[in-house]
Amino acid sequence: MFDNGEKHAHEPVLVDEALALLAVETGGYYVDATFGRGGHTARILEALGAQGHVLAIDRDPQAIEAGRRRFADEMRLTLVHAPFSDLRELVPAHAHGRACRGVLFDLGVSSPQLGDPLRGFSFRADGPLDMRMDPTHGEPVSAWLARAGVDEIREVIEAYAEERFARRVAHAIVEARRKRPLASTAELAALVARAVPTRERGRHPATRTFQALRIHVNDELGQLERGLAAAVDVLAPGGRLVVISFHSVEDRVVKRFFKRASKGDPQFAGRPAVPLEARPSLQLIGRKTRPSRAEAHRNPRARSALLRAAERLP
Ligand SMILES: C[S@@+](CC[C@H](N)C(=O)[O-])C[C@H]1O[C@@H](n2cnc3c(N)ncnc32)[C@H](O)[C@@H]1O
Repeated sequence: MFDNGEKHAHEPVLVDEALALLAVETGGYYVDATFGRGGHTARILEALGAQGHVLAIDRDPQAIEAGRRRFADEMRLTLVHAPFSDLRELVPAHAHGRACRGVLFDLGVSSPQLGDPLRGFSFRADGPLDMRMDPTHGEPVSAWLARAGVDEIREVIEAYAEERFARRVAHAIVEARRKRPLASTAELAALVARAVPTRERGRHPATRTFQALRIHVNDELGQLERGLAAAVDVLAPGGRLVVISFHSVEDRVVKRFFKRASKGDPQFAGRPAVPLEARPSLQLIGRKTRPSRAEAHRNPRARSALLRAAERLP
């Protein structure tokens, strides 16, 4: 595990499995779409020779700053502050004609993001109710909760976290903001804990609501759809797409995308001449992979992780 002096170091998940599926070629050009603290990037760089290169992207400016410090002397790495939905523009701009041999997505948030109360992701420590991965863009959760309608709030909590008590939580939020705006994570966590009547062992009752609000303010599912489509476009034939997700809502998007891209347009099924754009663009590799027991035991963040991989077809 890499400890760069931050209170919450990030232990990368499914690294050996991801590296094996990326099938790194020593002189290849690779994209780490979710740099975080560079755990996966470091391993890709280890597998690369002098001519290889990694383009690493993160929408969090703090991740990029930490990366510039950690990899200050690494000439085979380009770090870019951007959302991965921009991959279609970023890769040609930085790869200068080199064929992209692999793209890795390790979704969600990093331990330093979760562990810093000032970022507002955690219900465990009090902080401003923000939750933006990129604090230079968009609006914090507090601003959205101050203006959204009760049905809108309920829909987000239901759709993005499958919270059974979404209606109660949404009503409690709207009731509370009548008195004063919700501004802190502790305030929201306590309010949700009062609204949710049941308890799950080892799980804070606000876990689902926090997950849903985070997904919403960061447009995580929209980013994921656009990022995956762009990754397929930038990959060279034979290049690998490897995706690690952390919850069912996220994995569903990945699974559906992989299914669509590996089947081709059903309109042309069985026809002798299928136009290029209607042919399958991905071939799935193996089945989904979960962390070993040892990894899940060592790193609780890994427990819900799920990896899917595919190869770009010509
Ligand atoms: C789970 S962490 C990645 C950890 C990394 N693999 C490592 O080993 O250190 C996810 C990272 O992806 C970034 N991220 C999430 N969604 C993003 C997006 N749409 N565009 C760019 N970065 C994103 C987050 O800011 C976070 O730093």
